[in-house]
Amino acid sequence: MDQSLIPERLLCESRVDPLGIDEPHPRFSWLVETDREVARQSACHILVASSPELLGADEGDLWDSGKLISAQCSGLAYAGRPLKSRQKCFWKVRLWDHEGLVGPFSAVACFEMGLLHADDWKAGWMGWPGGRAGLAAYFRCAFRLDRPVARGRLYVTGLGLYEAVLNGRRMDGLLQPVVSDPSRRVYYNIFDVTADLQLGENVLAAVVGTGWYGTPVLLAQLEVLGPDGEVTFVATNREASPWVWMTAAGPTRTNSLFDGELYDARLEKVGWGDVGYDDGYGRSPSGDRAEGWMPACRVPGPGGVMRAQPIPAIAATEFLSLRSRSEPQPGVFVFDFGQNHAGRVRFSVEGPRGAKVTLKYAEALRPDGTVDQDNLRTARATDTYIMKGGGREQWEPSFTYHGYRYVQVEGWPGVPEEHTLQSCVLHSPLASRGEFSCSKELFNRIHRMILWTERSNLHGIPTDCPQRDERMGWLNDLAARSEELIYNFESVGFLEKFVDDIADTQDPRTGAITDTAPFHWGHRPADPVSIAYLLIPVLLHQHYGDTRLMVRHHAGMKRWVDFLTAQSDDGILGYSHYGDWAPPASEALAGSEGVGAISARTPGDLVSTAFYFRSLELLAHISRLLGETTEAARCTAQAKAVGDAFHRKFWNSTAGGYGSGNQACNSIALYFGLVPSELRPTVVATLVAEVHRCGGHLSTGNLATKYLLEVLSDEGHADLALTIAARTTYPGWGFMLSRGATTLWERWEELQGQGMNSHNHPMLGSIGSWFYRHVAGLRFREQNGTGTTPGVQFHIPIFKVLTSARAKVTTVYGDVAVEWKRRGPNLSFSAQVPWNCPATLHLPGQEVRPLSSGSHQHEFQIHHPSNQP
Ligand code: BGC
Repeated sequence: MDQSLIPERLLCESRVDPLGIDEPHPRFSWLVETDREVARQSACHILVASSPELLGADEGDLWDSGKLISAQCSGLAYAGRPLKSRQKCFWKVRLWDHEGLVGPFSAVACFEMGLLHADDWKAGWMGWPGGRAGLAAYFRCAFRLDRPVARGRLYVTGLGLYEAVLNGRRMDGLLQPVVSDPSRRVYYNIFDVTADLQLGENVLAAVVGTGWYGTPVLLAQLEVLGPDGEVTFVATNREASPWVWMTAAGPTRTNSLFDGELYDARLEKVGWGDVGYDDGYGRSPSGDRAEGWMPACRVPGPGGVMRAQPIPAIAATEFLSLRSRSEPQPGVFVFDFGQNHAGRVRFSVEGPRGAKVTLKYAEALRPDGTVDQDNLRTARATDTYIMKGGGREQWEPSFTYHGYRYVQVEGWPGVPEEHTLQSCVLHSPLASRGEFSCSKELFNRIHRMILWTERSNLHGIPTDCPQRDERMGWLNDLAARSEELIYNFESVGFLEKFVDDIADTQDPRTGAITDTAPFHWGHRPADPVSIAYLLIPVLLHQHYGDTRLMVRHHAGMKRWVDFLTAQSDDGILGYSHYGDWAPPASEALAGSEGVGAISARTPGDLVSTAFYFRSLELLAHISRLLGETTEAARCTAQAKAVGDAFHRKFWNSTAGGYGSGNQACNSIALYFGLVPSELRPTVVATLVAEVHRCGGHLSTGNLATKYLLEVLSDEGHADLALTIAARTTYPGWGFMLSRGATTLWERWEELQGQGMNSHNHPMLGSIGSWFYRHVAGLRFREQNGTGTTPGVQFHIPIFKVLTSARAKVTTVYGDVAVEWKRRGPNLSFSAQVPWNCPATLHLPGQEVRPLSSGSHQHEFQIHHPSNQP
């Protein structure tokens, strides 16, 4: 049997055969499916060619890497001739195993470059002069092609959100483009439209809504390559292409991400996206000139650089049908979809012209059974459809999404049948990466609740919540949540893009970043807990082994950490906006910001100084990985000084811990390694006592909750961590479930009404990484040296009450799986290790064992105090 390694699942920039790369050195990855026990890559050979024919002849005219001595099978960067705009490239790879046996080349993969330079753009921004509040703008351009089409590419974007149509075919993707700060970068999409174009008349059309931008503006450039290589441009620019772009208002009368959409089907311009439509220049059926078509005009652009959208568009990944329906008032119907989620409703209806169907979205119901929208604050979350009449009509809004479980339907002609409404679950379609389950069903339910909460909060950025007037990428939440997100979802490209969003917020003069990215709310400078800027690249490196993100942002991170240093006084960082935000009400400062969300007994300067210390350590780690040893040494020395200052200022011998000695202060100090080793046992003992004092409950906010569970498990108190995690009384995850939650709450309390109480908020989902790391025991090893590759470690925990757990994570090498089962002192362990993946088994009180690729099954006798009756 052929034992050689055959690379499969070839990815470029984490995508399969991507269209529109604007990275000058795209990164490649692959993996190998093999049963061989020892299957390691010792070298690889990549060929990149400008045509499949050349590649077929094993000629890499763009790049022939030669034999690269490297075990790396992901994040390998292209290092060939400079790539050009629009260039299509074909690539393949072959591998040598650890014994020097070379395998055959893989199948061919490809990628295509986007528009790399500003002068590639002939298109300009078009819109309505002065703008027209709330209305979506419809655009169309009729053009002729006199030669057959060899290739067609559409480069298009519209702000805030757009849908493009070519000859009646709607381009893929919802709520395009993904969000950014358009004054810094504007994402455009690329479509292969070769098959949509035809000889003779064609029409390129688009409708543009407001999104985060305001007045709708469009930028489109269609490039049609003829048989002899000549290019026809159809662009939103009167000077660059001879065809006129017309614009008009249409049926979308108002549109807003927060408030919803009003669509008047009576105003539809039937066939506006098709060939043969008469735009009746200057006329309108209603006689209202403003409703008719007129030439679009040049408008100022948003100012940012044009970038090919690096992550997939938001998509409908599931359709929920009705769980139950009620009629709390005559003619008012409430649909319960049984699950809090992000999305919008699609329906079909029959009724008279002018009938107005209204959908009101909410997470909760009032005692009278109608929807309770109070906690959405100013977001109206209402979609309205006015019927044109004359048959069955189907509708789904275009430029909005909501967070909800319930939808209240008003104005429906007759009684809405159950199947007439369907809820579309919308989010950035990140593939699932991890699976987890264990013998405690409550944990499995919490895990599922986390997955639903994450799916509700992946919309081009990791948002804080999907329902109220917010939906922002809060960096403090990401400090706690990122690791869970990386375990559960294939989020590498998504988070790389988010780190770019963070960098875009940086003040070029001071180095300060902001609390939210893109920056809408919060402060500049950000709270020092906004460690996501450094943490996400470190976590992604741990899981994927790629330093690209660190290289790209190293200078920016340095400027941010230098900024923190400039704010500090003798190692203490005094400013704080949120700290350990939103702890249980009894731990919070009554009347403080966020309806009492500031921790009363966890001093802001303690939290800020700890995060400042951790930022320095992360920067030292990153600098070391990038080979910048002087910088690494400088940060390490500075971290040591900050750590000493922290201890001097916050050590409280009376409390046997730090600050007030509460759970948060001590968990943060322990987790960040701020406690001198001789005092660790004392601080751990204080923490344990404090948990007991709270009746086995947590008293922590959005950050320290993660650290509390981690340090208890690390310090030999796994059972106590489990007790906290398994509580079904307030405060805890089990309490949320006992109150019927299907997604995580923002507050530990069950709050309704106005204020700050989202019921779909991922920050407290940080327990999700504890499930993988400390319950199933699947961890990714820290990588300290340059050139190291990710590896997994199985740290099998011993709990008194938990008898089994299993997890599976898709790594860069393929699936890693682990399962353990325990009966008294007998532990059975099984694992699946893919090719090339360094793996080790860590059992309490036993030597670390390396595990080879393949399946493993072992029985062990465990000597552990918890085995004693
Ligand atoms: C967000 C939180 C965030 C907080 C800032 C809230 O409005 O929803 O998730 O942590 O503001 O501190």
